[in-house]
Amino acid sequence: MKFFLDTADLAEIEEAASWGVLAGVTTNPTLYARTGGKLADFHNHIKRICEIVDGPVSAESVAMTREEIIRDGRELAALAPNVVVKVPTMIEGLAATKQLASEGIPVNMTLCFTVPQAIMAARAGARYISPFVGRFDDIAEDGLAQLADVIAALGNYDFSDAGVAGESVEVIAASVRSPHHVAQAALMGADIATVPFATLKKCVQHPLTDRGLDSFMKDWEKVQNA
Ligand code: E4P
Repeated sequence: MKFFLDTADLAEIEEAASWGVLAGVTTNPTLYARTGGKLADFHNHIKRICEIVDGPVSAESVAMTREEIIRDGRELAALAPNVVVKVPTMIEGLAATKQLASEGIPVNMTLCFTVPQAIMAARAGARYISPFVGRFDDIAEDGLAQLADVIAALGNYDFSDAGVAGESVEVIAASVRSPHHVAQAALMGADIATVPFATLKKCVQHPLTDRGLDSFMKDWEKVQNA
């Protein structure tokens, strides 16, 4: 499984990129708003992320009609070779995805919650599909079970004729809120987990690692003073 960072914060992206495990970034309108960025700076901000990250960077269209999504998608894709256009899973989004994929523009279908949505996204030619986990948990439903269903259902079929030629669809476990979500997504075989910075940091931490390190350091001090 690959790790994407779910943020638009440049400092977080630079930091995570320096760890050597970052394979991509996903942004959304909320995450960009959180940076305090203005509309006029949005394209430059995405360009900057694309320079930092050696991997796909999802930038979301906020349009609601297929024509506008396609126009947005072409503009976003022109910003950098590693831009992926994020498109909501809805009828207009499917139609736009089909067109963008036919032009060789990779699409990440977002706000995907169910198996039928995921299969339709794959059929429309999405390069990535993002089932949301945490938002199911927010409404007292089992987000991980839904993710497992999506992965199992997509695995039943071959979508190689659907998207950008030569590229197969990948599942991004999204709306990930904890290392437990990350672990379960990996056990299910999710291709990618997109993870907020704080959660990514927690994924490398463990109290037993800290305790072990502490005792190694103390014992090494004894060796140095012997
Ligand atoms: C996915 O690409 C989304 O940006 C993100 O994972 C949403 O997460 P949230 O439900 O924590 O807002």
